[in-house]
Amino acid sequence: MASRSNIDDGFVRVASFSDLSAQKKICVKVEDRNVAVFHVNDSVYALDLFCYHAGGPLVSGDIEDIDGRMCVICPWHRHQITLTEGESLYVAIDPQNPRHRERKSKGVKQRTHEVQVIGNDVYLRLSTSTNQEHIESDNYYTDLYKTFRENYVVPDYSPNSLAVPLHSRRTGKDLKKYYN
Ligand code: FES
Repeated sequence: MASRSNIDDGFVRVASFSDLSAQKKICVKVEDRNVAVFHVNDSVYALDLFCYHAGGPLVSGDIEDIDGRMCVICPWHRHQITLTEGESLYVAIDPQNPRHRERKSKGVKQRTHEVQVIGNDVYLRLSTSTNQEHIESDNYYTDLYKTFRENYVVPDYSPNSLAVPLHSRRTGKDLKKYYN
């Protein structure tokens, strides 16, 4: 557990822990960064909101345990991103032996941020202050994506919404209930 002496070291309060644990996932903004914060199995994780692949809203993704690693599944194209490191995982198939499949990593693609919970307060420190190395999700903070950022609205993928995540598991069967 962090002590109060280090919370000023670039950390800013972003939420109350009771709100986060009730909602399980929230979006916050620190400086110019949109960050998805997750509460999973007693741990808190923070990653850039816009998925490195095409900007999908990770805060709307499901959380899954993949080979013992907690991942967020992007709601747009279902890329699997580890919550701790921001690594993108995939299943490699050996063309010589298609039955042999192995989970592999594409490397760190999504920037993660440091979180501390002190009492009922959740603090976040952007990793851009400590890790200047370019990570693919940083692309959304370049000038090229200024309009994208400014106009971004996190889609409502709640069960009664008509919004449909791209290539998600929400299939024709699910959609029938909306359109019939
Ligand atoms: S936008 Fe996330 S997988 Fe494509």
